[in-house]
Amino acid sequence: MVFSDGQSGYPMAKDLEGMLKELQKLLGDRFLTGEADRYCYATDSSIYRSMPDAVAIPINTEEVVKIVKLANKYEVPLVPRGGGTGLCGAAVAIHGGIIIDMQKMAKIKEVHPESLYCTVEPGVVYDDLIRALKPHGFTFPTAPGSGEACTIGGMVALNASGMRAIKYGATRDYVLALEVVLPSGEVCRCGTHTLKNSSGYQLEKLFVGSEGTLGIITEITLKIVILPKSRAVALATFDSMEKAGQTVSNIIAKPVIPSSMELMDHTCIEVANKGANAGFPDVAGLLIIECDGEIEGVRREMKSVEEVVRKSGALNFESTEDPKVFNRWHDGRQSILPALGRLKPELKIVSLADDMAIPIANIGKTVMAFDKIAKKNNIIVATYGHASDGNLHTKLLIDPTKPEDWKRAERTVEEIYKAVLELDGTVSGEHGIGVSKAPYFMNERRSAIGVMKAIKRALDPKNIMNPGKMFDWEKKGIMGPLRYPAEVE
Ligand code: MLT
Ligand code: ZN
Repeated sequence: MVFSDGQSGYPMAKDLEGMLKELQKLLGDRFLTGEADRYCYATDSSIYRSMPDAVAIPINTEEVVKIVKLANKYEVPLVPRGGGTGLCGAAVAIHGGIIIDMQKMAKIKEVHPESLYCTVEPGVVYDDLIRALKPHGFTFPTAPGSGEACTIGGMVALNASGMRAIKYGATRDYVLALEVVLPSGEVCRCGTHTLKNSSGYQLEKLFVGSEGTLGIITEITLKIVILPKSRAVALATFDSMEKAGQTVSNIIAKPVIPSSMELMDHTCIEVANKGANAGFPDVAGLLIIECDGEIEGVRREMKSVEEVVRKSGALNFESTEDPKVFNRWHDGRQSILPALGRLKPELKIVSLADDMAIPIANIGKTVMAFDKIAKKNNIIVATYGHASDGNLHTKLLIDPTKPEDWKRAERTVEEIYKAVLELDGTVSGEHGIGVSKAPYFMNERRSAIGVMKAIKRALDPKNIMNPGKMFDWEKKGIMGPLRYPAEVE
């Protein structure tokens, strides 16, 4: 049994040509088979590239149902895709098949501030939803770093979040109801428009984080919250990352729950200063700490934060309510990912081991372990992230044309995940598993993989939905079809 790319162990594309013809008839110019189009959809924001056989762009649930029924009949893999901002390869068609681009299903259908929910199609871009909620005085506060491009459907599929999860949670905490086209083509409406629901299995939560392996999400109902009235932001600098990390749990233990605490190491500070004129001091590590809410409460919290930061041995603490200043710091933080790519001309960022989460109290130990691993492997591991909820980002910088650099990166990733597990963490806090974390996820969740596979088999017996990802990745390591000109075994 083979897919169009000749991989074994998956259901066969019984008649790919037949399926393509029927899809052409169904979708007309919203069905793409040209090489250039397929190339554009061959990668997301991960390190992988694999050509799909075609791209389908549906505009409503009925079309999605028809596409899924055809895929079922012809046993062709389907890979749903939102904004293509995913960093772990979940939207790459590693076994060929059809990419389902959901971006044209982008209606904000209902906003009900009085009932605290809104209903949207999956292709709505995060920032567009925020703009639509703002005049009502509401928001969906998960704040992913890629908010200007990522879609709500993609966020649900990966349980995405961002810097404010400490106070506001991640996408799963906001999903009240979903409409999902199951692998059979049946439409399943799960969840409710109510804030509380004790009615049986919460299937809507099961689809969150399922990465397109259980069906295609066609409608989403999200809880919304009141937009905070004011915010204050502080910059705390340190002579070691360990102290910066330890300060985060000291603040929480005070107890104070800021709306975010972003950690940056020296490499990130350097690139943010160069790339975004952030004006950060030249120190070993820093925290950008934000408190939001009513102004009196914000000021009270900031005072407590300052007390803890100073007691924790910070070099300096400076706070502001001036949006000009805190937007500059915030833009500096947001610039890290693109700016890292400009640190040295021959080095590129590779998103590997890029979003682990650990218990907050272990951040200090974790960043020290990462530093040791980087030095041992002679590789730059830029470390930053949403320290307030224990979610760190590490970006490895390598020359991706050199197989030996990939080998070093693989070794580094293995050691990083070993440390993460020893420190009681998990491989992904917000970007999902896809391909780049699959082997380590399978190891970490050993005792639950059987249950996940049973659910998958029950819903998708022909394995047409995004095959080969998460618990279905067959290789031992993380080296899949790379988007770079390097062959790595
Ligand atoms: C972020 O925090 O900006 C995003 O998760 C992307 C990343 O830097 O990995
Ligand atoms: Zn992040």
